[in-house]
Amino acid sequence: MEYRLLGKSGLAVSELCLGTMTFAGATSEADSMDMMERFFDRGGNFLDTADVYTGGRSEEIVGKAIRGRRADVVVASKVRMKVTDNINGAGVSRKHIMDGLDASLRRLGTDYIDLYQMHVWDHATPIEETLRTLDDLVSSGKVRYIGCSNYFAWHLMKALACSDANRYVRFVSVQPQYSLVSREMDREMMSLCLEENVGVIPWAPLGGGFLTGRYDRTEPENGRLTAKTGESSWHLRATDKNFAILDTVIQTAKELGKTPAQVSLNWLLQQKGITSPIFGASTLEQFEDNIRAAGWTMPHELWSVLDEASTLPSEYPNRFIEKFRRPI
Ligand SMILES: NC(=O)c1ccc[n+]([C@@H]2O[C@H](COP(=O)([O-])OP(=O)(O)OC[C@H]3O[C@@H](n4cnc5c(N)ncnc54)[C@H](OP(=O)(O)O)[C@@H]3O)[C@@H](O)[C@H]2O)c1
Repeated sequence: MEYRLLGKSGLAVSELCLGTMTFAGATSEADSMDMMERFFDRGGNFLDTADVYTGGRSEEIVGKAIRGRRADVVVASKVRMKVTDNINGAGVSRKHIMDGLDASLRRLGTDYIDLYQMHVWDHATPIEETLRTLDDLVSSGKVRYIGCSNYFAWHLMKALACSDANRYVRFVSVQPQYSLVSREMDREMMSLCLEENVGVIPWAPLGGGFLTGRYDRTEPENGRLTAKTGESSWHLRATDKNFAILDTVIQTAKELGKTPAQVSLNWLLQQKGITSPIFGASTLEQFEDNIRAAGWTMPHELWSVLDEASTLPSEYPNRFIEKFRRPI
């Protein structure tokens, strides 16, 4: 396992981050604990959770795993989604962030979170209020670094500008959906993150399982993609373009003697600007497959074939701007 610095920070994170959204859900508590032990044994140090995952159980299980090794682990959690019916039980107001952080710290059994992320943009709260609060929390020591998730590029740029203008801490990372079957962030976010040195830690790097090769064109009867709504629902994943990408992944995997999951994650490991994909695994077998995405390098010709198969169509204004790129 290799390590990378998270954005413009001195925080070293493993090149693969373990997602914990299924802990106490599709993954039993015992398997979740086993999975984290295996992850640490392979050199992984980066765990991603959230206050809303499995009603707080995911944070509790992560809390058990980090006991006795707190300094060795980088724990990322999130706030913003609705956790109570109280009108202030959601969002990134000063009130909800402070209440949400205390509740997360209790569940995690720790007195600080390494990376505290705003789960999704909040239209209701001024960004100045959110960042001032986060700056206070970093000063207090309850939070070490801050990040955001599910933002437009302009949201992130506005937040960075607000931090700079007020001398507040900056977001060091963004957590978007990004994979071979979800490259919307290529429009603006990826170039912004390279420009501003913000780390990118993609969620659903396997398209919720679509890219593992387990699905054919028949609608599945079990697994994540049976969902009728959400980003990994069958109708969003099962498009002709995605199946063409999947065919390329399967062909590449055959040529390399790897699995489709390993190829899909390894493609991300070599993508410029990506710090650490956050992969999910519902079972220990899936974990053993996915963790083997690290430790080897895909030949550039094969990486490029996947890149071309999955790239977004040429669009304005990129198409226009690129046409006038100066040769310097
Ligand atoms: N910031 C956000 O808004 C946000 C949103 C979603 C997720 N996340 C984070 O990102 C993490 C990963 O997200 P994700 O679970 O959607 O990512 P993913 O890695 O794309 O999908 C994981 C799912 O794919 C299937 N799978 C994984 N490896 C497999 C393999 N080798 N063979 C067959 N099937 C396999 C399993 O689903 P089955 O149960 O069908 O077997 C597994 O739960 C989460 O745990 C969470 O930490 C963040």
